[in-house]
Amino acid sequence: MYAETANDAAAANGNSGQAYSLDFDAKNYTEKTATVDGKTVAYRAFENIVYVKNPADTKYQCMNFYVPEGYYSGASIGGYTAETAPIFFPNAVGGYMPGEPDKPGEGFEGGPNAALVALSKGLVVACPGARGRTTQDSSGAYTGKAPACIVDLKAAVRYLRYNDKAMPGDAEKIVSNGTSAGGALSDLLGASGDSKDYEPYLKALGVADERDDIFAASCYCPITNLDHADMAYEWLFNGVNDYKQIKINMLDWKVQRTEVAGTLTPEQIEVSNELAPLFPAYVNSLGLKKTDGTALTLNADGNGSFKDYVRSLVIASAQKALDAGTDLSAKTWMTIQDGKVVDIDFDQYVRYAGRMKTPSAFDGLDLGNGENGLFGTASIDARHFTAFGMEHSTAAAGTLADAQLVKIMNPMGYIGSKEATTAQYWRIRHGTIDKDTSLAIPTILATTLANKGYDVDFALPWDRPHSGEYDLEELFAWIAQVCH
Ligand code: DHB
Repeated sequence: MYAETANDAAAANGNSGQAYSLDFDAKNYTEKTATVDGKTVAYRAFENIVYVKNPADTKYQCMNFYVPEGYYSGASIGGYTAETAPIFFPNAVGGYMPGEPDKPGEGFEGGPNAALVALSKGLVVACPGARGRTTQDSSGAYTGKAPACIVDLKAAVRYLRYNDKAMPGDAEKIVSNGTSAGGALSDLLGASGDSKDYEPYLKALGVADERDDIFAASCYCPITNLDHADMAYEWLFNGVNDYKQIKINMLDWKVQRTEVAGTLTPEQIEVSNELAPLFPAYVNSLGLKKTDGTALTLNADGNGSFKDYVRSLVIASAQKALDAGTDLSAKTWMTIQDGKVVDIDFDQYVRYAGRMKTPSAFDGLDLGNGENGLFGTASIDARHFTAFGMEHSTAAAGTLADAQLVKIMNPMGYIGSKEATTAQYWRIRHGTIDKDTSLAIPTILATTLANKGYDVDFALPWDRPHSGEYDLEELFAWIAQVCH
């Protein structure tokens, strides 16, 4: 499949304090080749490009930029030229941790990764790094708390636009991609283009004076809409008291996962019982509709058309698997007649998927969750970001993040709003046994986008746990379709 045949460029990470040029250096590259499906892919690698004038951390505030070699001799690849090729923009963020810029190479399931497949299809690839919740400077101050991760991605987009003439690829065709926390950043980047809310943070970094809206966003299992994710989780999992936590080595989350089983304590069950009934009012406040105009709502008991809709998405996923020859006969909670999945017992399906997180799943009452760490400050490691979390805090001196900070980390308020330019094209995937967040969260995201007139390809891949980039042929077929 894939083999790297050239040496990597030396990664010379400078320190902050120096002003960096925002002008792309077209001469500073190395030539590389790799093999994808038996074919050689030759490309130029421009690595460790610092994308802001005044970086806080050059290890993360930089990007790697890759161009198919053919574009330097006037070739057309996959129907694109050096001027028209879309720019694939995959972030490498997981767990809201810092993410160094990705490189074309091996993917987590052994084949070529998304960056390398993109090059093989004639896309230009810009891999941005971004600071994360644990990033610190030499004095120990945190430099990567929210909104640093999204601000960094926006800064990288602005660099690409600023240098659009000097860099191959079309900066009006930036296609963002990410998984999990990276999927959430991809959706936030897609939703919040050009919003003034981020301006002070961008200015402080010395970004290019350009727009930061993007063309399309691909989001795998986005851990998004964090301030409503606790209630969404308990809406789905309330009553499921056994859990299997999956411990992830966040720096290498794609490969290292260990399971720790447990049962909710009476206190945790009480928290679940308090959170679950908050969800219907939230869903109902959104005014969501199916494509046929039917309102998607929930009754106070958590049942209703929204739940039926989520069930229909799971049924559609099972149908697709069945049509592809998957044996579903062991799924006793599913009714199959004449090759059609006619129903599932939703509660049993939820038990089959299983609870992973303990309540509250995101805004940890003891401030112990990664998301609490996202909402810290330069000097405070972790804070609450929901009223519920703050009111029920068990932490010694728990404090609450400002509403404005919570707002700028959530795509929901920007979709279709006058304050922002939202990407036109969206691809959202969340596996049917992914329990890192509630199925309701990507459903709400996708439905809101569709209701506001954006073009959304949303599906729940059958029996797929928390993961991304497992369907690269389909991903790049979608990109080709929306870009041509
Ligand atoms: C990720 C997973 C989580 O369960 C979470 O809460 C945040 C991030 C991740 O894999 O990026």
